[in-house]
Amino acid sequence: MHTQVGIIGAGPAGLMLSHLLHLEGIKSIVLEDRSRGYVENRIRAGVLEQNTVDMLTDSGVGERMKREGMVHHGVELRFGGQGHRIDMYELTGGRAITVYGQHEVVKDLIRTRLDADGQILFEAEAVSVHDLDTSTPKIHFQKDDEDQELTCDVIAGCDGFHGVCRPSIPEGVLTVYERKYPFAWLGILAETPPSSEELIYTYHERGFALHSMRSPELTRLYIQCDPDDDIQDWSDERIWEELHTRLATEEGWALTEGPILEEGRSITPMRSFLVEPMQYGRLFLAGDAAHVVTPTGAKGMNLAVADVRVLAQALAEFYESGRTSLLDRYSETCLHRVWRAQHFSWWMTSMLHRFDDEDVFRHRLQLAELDYVASSQTAAATLAENYVGLPMDYWD
Ligand code: APR
Ligand code: PHB
Repeated sequence: MHTQVGIIGAGPAGLMLSHLLHLEGIKSIVLEDRSRGYVENRIRAGVLEQNTVDMLTDSGVGERMKREGMVHHGVELRFGGQGHRIDMYELTGGRAITVYGQHEVVKDLIRTRLDADGQILFEAEAVSVHDLDTSTPKIHFQKDDEDQELTCDVIAGCDGFHGVCRPSIPEGVLTVYERKYPFAWLGILAETPPSSEELIYTYHERGFALHSMRSPELTRLYIQCDPDDDIQDWSDERIWEELHTRLATEEGWALTEGPILEEGRSITPMRSFLVEPMQYGRLFLAGDAAHVVTPTGAKGMNLAVADVRVLAQALAEFYESGRTSLLDRYSETCLHRVWRAQHFSWWMTSMLHRFDDEDVFRHRLQLAELDYVASSQTAAATLAENYVGLPMDYWD
């Protein structure tokens, strides 16, 4: 089997890349370990920054998002029993976020690719990648219990944090940057209308809590928990009690409860991770395969699609003229945005989580910082411009 660009992984990175390449007249095959049903129903993040919305719209996959996505102009920071609205729209000259589940983006991209006769092989596991430093790299994969080979000009490693691509780069090439945090997020999806029109990020003495949503009927909620917690130990009563306590305000804000859906229940450890460079020979890493950000900044999916936009443009130049100047600079170009998002996500995480119960000084510093962001236009603008996402040409 042969194609121009062999893409491993049908998450937002791999699918968006395949779609953008198709628009440039470049052929690709996507290999995805899981079934179509699995990737289309996996509950993940849900905040699209302005760049992502624009990219989906401009490339013709934004129709359902425009209809069903919820545009938010502001976000709330809550601490000390008070809410403080950050008017992102006002502070950024008219930029906003759209709340639309990552799995909905995945569904839209899969349908668009299949409608255009694009090739996505589901339940096809890439086992290994070869000849990365030649002009004919190869992917060995297994489908229907058969070993197969895909040869291509370029491999795009869009296979997430646990994929095969990053570990296939020879030792000594990559520099790894990593930070683990002493907490995790317990996430739930509840069948109940959101209790607020906008997202609420809360700092509480018992830990972080986030009120988000997926639709007018579905609320998405998170609480900081111990990374070693067993989800079985978190009964529905315990989850709701903790949410009520952490999200409570002095004015008596009310959180509406509803049945918790099993598919949305998860505990996710927090980590910041990235490798430099994001490329080796003819292998290019994109999305979670190259970097993981803490979810507090809502940047994961947005970084994934920003990477592949850069990669698609570089590949368009390569196939048009044979020049590799953009491909050579792929990693450098992406890493400006990636490091900015790493910092923003780390900053939001540091400001909003409970670290060490004994460290009262740190706790007071966090409150002082929250107070500053809530009261200073300048500080709020920093949060706002990062949250809605810096423009695509920001580093040009
Ligand atoms: N062969 C084929 N597919 C693989 C393999 C393999 N060996 N290993 C992993 N995959 C697939 C996974 O099943 C998954 O569907 O690669 C895909 C990677 O997709 P994502 O994890 O969604 O990663 P990405 O596209 O980079 O999107 C990043 O996902 O985890 C969230 O917060 C993160 O929002 C961010 C987004
Ligand atoms: C979500 O809705 O899943 C969500 C929202 C904001 C975040 C992270 C996740 O920062």
